[in-house]
Amino acid sequence: MTEERRVSDSQVETVHMLRPNHMNAAGRLFGGMLMQWLDEVAGLVAKRHTRANVITASVDNLRFIHGAYQGEMVVIIGKVTFVGNTSLEVRVDTYSEHLDDGSRHPINRAYFTMVALDENDRPKRVPRLILETEAEKAEWEAAEKRRQMRMKRKEEGF
Ligand SMILES: CC(C)(COP(=O)(O)OP(=O)(O)OC[C@H]1O[C@@H](n2cnc3c(N)ncnc32)[C@H](O)[C@@H]1OP(=O)(O)O)[C@@H](O)C(=O)NCCC(=O)NCCS
Repeated sequence: MTEERRVSDSQVETVHMLRPNHMNAAGRLFGGMLMQWLDEVAGLVAKRHTRANVITASVDNLRFIHGAYQGEMVVIIGKVTFVGNTSLEVRVDTYSEHLDDGSRHPINRAYFTMVALDENDRPKRVPRLILETEAEKAEWEAAEKRRQMRMKRKEEGF
């Protein structure tokens, strides 16, 4: 039987309180720190979906929308948007959450392509994705376009 899972089966949310060691010299969240957290979330989502070892093949649209500052809470949410044969796309959204009223403001969005590996470290087929909502279907269609762009970039080396 074909293995398949819902988007909600693998969704991951992590929260970080921004401390002095997370800051850069300009007093904002260090981009490299955030990239590590994003990669960890994408890896966790991919592991939950595939129940296999996974690697990061590429990251795109890593867009820093706003800075984040010491004492703020950073919420990172990752979910599967698309599955190919051996790869899957994970969208990772980052928000700054304000302690006074709980409001969230987007600070970053990124799309990770993760590849599942078998016991010989070769790419292996990933479970299918069950799309339950209109939003999930729209995400899938957008992900197909991003995948075509990635393949074009890879082929043409730009
Ligand atoms: C990712 C990797 C396995 C792809 O190798 P490959 O020889 O191109 O393998 P394949 O052609 O079988 O592709 C495997 C999947 O990766 C996808 N892929 C390959 N290169 C890609 C790229 N640049 N961007 C996005 N997806 C890519 C393919 O589309 C394919 O997905 P599909 O099966 O769903 O169509 C290989 O480049 C690798 O091991 N990279 C190192 C990854 C790593 O170590 N990451 C840790 C962080 S440094």
